[in-house]
Amino acid sequence: MDFLEFSRKRFSVRSYSDRQVEDEKIQKILQAAMIAPTAVNYQPQKIYVLKSDEALRKIRGITRSTYDAPLVFLICSDTERSWHSPFVKGYDSGEMDASIVCTHMMLEAEDLGLGSVWVLLFDPHKVKRAFGLPDHIEPICLLPVGYPANDAVPYAPWHDTFREMSDIAEEL
Ligand SMILES: Cc1cc2nc3c(=O)[nH]c(=O)nc-3n(C[C@H](O)[C@H](O)[C@H](O)COP(=O)(O)O)c2cc1C
Repeated sequence: MDFLEFSRKRFSVRSYSDRQVEDEKIQKILQAAMIAPTAVNYQPQKIYVLKSDEALRKIRGITRSTYDAPLVFLICSDTERSWHSPFVKGYDSGEMDASIVCTHMMLEAEDLGLGSVWVLLFDPHKVKRAFGLPDHIEPICLLPVGYPANDAVPYAPWHDTFREMSDIAEEL
């Protein structure tokens, strides 16, 4: 399967089976996070693995958008490690780096036969407080991961509606 076919096959999973994700698979997803490209290779990503009953209870209390997945990655940026642009005042690459990291993790999960969904619908302040994160660790996104339930389907029209190529890309 080539990359485009692989990418078209993936969809956001919002219904999970109870089956636990094996530790080897968790480690592979974390390896994909480790080797992702980041600005100047500063690697500002900090990832928390939420799989204990207590951690899952906390995150589920903050957002319903974990869809009861048995495993949730909390992907953060360390603002003391991220790249700060000398050209754009206040620019911090952390969010972009963490997004690339999360994309790597999402695609690795797919390759391992798992489902996932990228989640932004949560209050980062509540997450910081609930998990006692230091000031310089900024929550960027969540990635619930697990085996898709039998009824997991792509959400239409979100999954399969695309703008025209000529609208999104042009030659200058
Ligand atoms: C940056 C970002 C934030 C997202 N936030 C959420 C979210 O909070 N909740 C959710 O259910 N899906 C979320 N999604 C999933 C998108 O809705 C989904 O990727 C998009 O509709 C395309 O569908 P597909 O992933 O099934 O192909 C998010 C995706 C991205 C890239």
